[in-house]
Amino acid sequence: MTEPQPFRAPLAALTGATGFLGSHIADVLIAQGWRVRAAVRPTSDRSWLPNGVTVVEVPIAPEGDIDAWTSPEERRTLTDFVRGASAVIHCAGAVRAESLGEYRRANTASTWRLLNAARDARLRGSFVLISSLAAAGPSAIDRPRLETGPRRPVTDYGRSKAEAEALVEQGWPFRTAILRPPALYGPRDEAFLPLFKAARRGLTIRIGNLREVSLVDGRDAAEAAVLLAADDRARGIYFVDDGADYDFADLAEAVGEAWNRKVRTLSLPQPLLEIAAKLVGRRRASRLPLLAADRLRDTAQEAWTCDGSRLRDQLGFEAEHDLFSGFIDTLAWYRREGWL
Ligand SMILES: NC(=O)c1ccc[n+]([C@@H]2O[C@H](COP(=O)([O-])OP(=O)(O)OC[C@H]3O[C@@H](n4cnc5c(N)ncnc54)[C@H](OP(=O)(O)O)[C@@H]3O)[C@@H](O)[C@H]2O)c1
Repeated sequence: MTEPQPFRAPLAALTGATGFLGSHIADVLIAQGWRVRAAVRPTSDRSWLPNGVTVVEVPIAPEGDIDAWTSPEERRTLTDFVRGASAVIHCAGAVRAESLGEYRRANTASTWRLLNAARDARLRGSFVLISSLAAAGPSAIDRPRLETGPRRPVTDYGRSKAEAEALVEQGWPFRTAILRPPALYGPRDEAFLPLFKAARRGLTIRIGNLREVSLVDGRDAAEAAVLLAADDRARGIYFVDDGADYDFADLAEAVGEAWNRKVRTLSLPQPLLEIAAKLVGRRRASRLPLLAADRLRDTAQEAWTCDGSRLRDQLGFEAEHDLFSGFIDTLAWYRREGWL
């Protein structure tokens, strides 16, 4: 009689686990009983990594060509990182960079490397790329983007993500899925911190032409990422949202409710932002959050909305937080951590 084999929890090879979204993905994986192997950099701040994660220092985006190994050693270390995993979740990526080249290295070249490492390691499970609505491009008012639409990125960030998606779609001997979150907020997120700071003084700012956005709490996006990794039915592209579209009145109301005060919305019109960017000069503007060329292409759009019904209807996903409950938790977290 053969001895029953001890149960081994499935292993996820995760990149970007030291960042905002990736650390929530690590939390969800651990909570669901996965083992997690996380690729980090020597410089990565590891304080959000949950207990139980195995950390491996492995470069995933070295200088060099997008689609060629820089050395046999690089190929070996990345293949070892992926070996034995039931899922690879590639969440690492640059959300802010100064050039298309920099975005491509962090977002596209890393995807090429991990896909090839997964093939070398004979991955039998799933490969999940964390992409972005930016890869699809903007929407129109009341017409959220669907997965079936063409990729029409308008930013360098979006272009690098769209190229990464195209690599994932090339046909690999394992299951692949792509998660496209819209803008994310939530505990550990830095991008929405200025909004909360301004709202403390009773103000929010409507930036550029933006009128309508989809938003989702990073903790919900993390649940969606793990669902794509675990559910054998998940294939292709999935948007994730909380089922609502928001305008700036909604944002002001939600952040006002979190602070328990009335919040007014001021406008920073797009032409003003563009003049300011010209005045400070291209080089300096590229380092400023509101005036960088890529950010201006983003705020020139009226709508960044997506429709997450494929994820809901096909895989039963439901976001746990809406903007109101999510902002309350986010504010509480900022205060607890001394960010506010
Ligand atoms: N935040 C959003 O609103 C949003 C929306 C849609 C999609 N996404 C996608 O979600 C993912 C995570 O974003 P985030 O907001 O969590 O960003 P984040 O907090 O800046 O985290 C980025 C993570 O990627 C790692 N990383 C960045 N560049 C790298 C490189 N060249 N080599 C190796 N690791 C690198 C970072 O490592 P270090 O800790 O070492 O810096 C960090 O772990 C990205 O792929 C992003 O495109 C984000």
